[in-house]
Amino acid sequence: MKVISQIKLPVEKEMELFEKKFFESMSSQVALLNRITHYIVNRKGKQMRPMFVFLVAKMVSDGSVNERTYRGASVIELIHTATLVHDDVVDDSNRRRGFFSINALWKNKIAVLVGDYLLSKGLLLSIDNNDFDLLKIISVAVREMSEGELLQIEKARRLDITEAVYYDIIRQKTATLIAACCSLGAASVKPESNEIAKMRRFGELIGMAFQIKDDLFDYGDDKIGKPTGIDIKEQKMTLPLIYALNNSAKKEKSWLINSVKNHNKDKKRVKEVIDFVKMKGGLDYAENKMMEFQREALLILEDYPESTYKNSLELMVNYVIERKK
Ligand code: IPE
Ligand code: IPE
Ligand code: MG
Ligand code: MG
Repeated sequence: MKVISQIKLPVEKEMELFEKKFFESMSSQVALLNRITHYIVNRKGKQMRPMFVFLVAKMVSDGSVNERTYRGASVIELIHTATLVHDDVVDDSNRRRGFFSINALWKNKIAVLVGDYLLSKGLLLSIDNNDFDLLKIISVAVREMSEGELLQIEKARRLDITEAVYYDIIRQKTATLIAACCSLGAASVKPESNEIAKMRRFGELIGMAFQIKDDLFDYGDDKIGKPTGIDIKEQKMTLPLIYALNNSAKKEKSWLINSVKNHNKDKKRVKEVIDFVKMKGGLDYAENKMMEFQREALLILEDYPESTYKNSLELMVNYVIERKK
């Protein structure tokens, strides 16, 4: 059995019902919008975030979930989808989940509005049901994700990113939402418990590893359903490149910076940069950092008694760094 199906097993029923609810949560009276949301749900992603919500909820409560858990999972996936639709506009990317991105098919104008629509639908799902504790968790994540994306753009413009700032960026743009999944899963079944903060930290650590993995994909040429090799083109400096910069002689450093600054659209030059980063051990370094986050996440799980849910979460932590897309 594929590892992802094995992970899903203890929350299979929940995920099935979730998919129905998630689809319903997007519906609109506007035909164009419905066409687009159909397009989106027919090309679903890995759905890791709702899985985190359900697995954590069940782990901390001996196997129970409730309507709040379902709504929380839908809100998170709505917001995740909204940010991907916007992200592909921001990154000028034409592929997502193996198909055309929304901006590639319908253009930026429509993609921006669809993203806003999905975001508002997510927030309303919490508000209409008085899930204000969950709404708070989610809204913090939404704010941090926007800040993270903007911090990344600021650094891409000035090309002065450090390793510490890189971690700030990925914590804000990616880890915060996975942290929200895990804390929300706990909050949905055990409001005001100290599991909420603990699970938040667990999710944050996984999220860090998750984004480092995503950034490593960009250096490869595996088919992952979205473009690779676009980070340098977008002047996005990620951990492998930051490491190479910090471990280069002065001349190499200026060559690197000049390449990213002035030759970022030159495919041959970008390839040379990628090869240089590899030669300097940038990928190995990033992989090791990713595994440090993974180990720290697994440590948090050690506090919990054995259960099928805990077991799936452990597999999930490993899946994050071993996944092929
Ligand atoms: C992609 O997230 C965005 C990042 C934070 C890197 P996923 O890889 O979870 O996207 P889908 O939902 O499976 O497509
Ligand atoms: C992650 O950013 C997506 C968000 C946090 C919105 P990236 O731009 O690195 O993600 P991909 O690679 O396009 O999925
Ligand atoms: Mg981006
Ligand atoms: Mg992107």
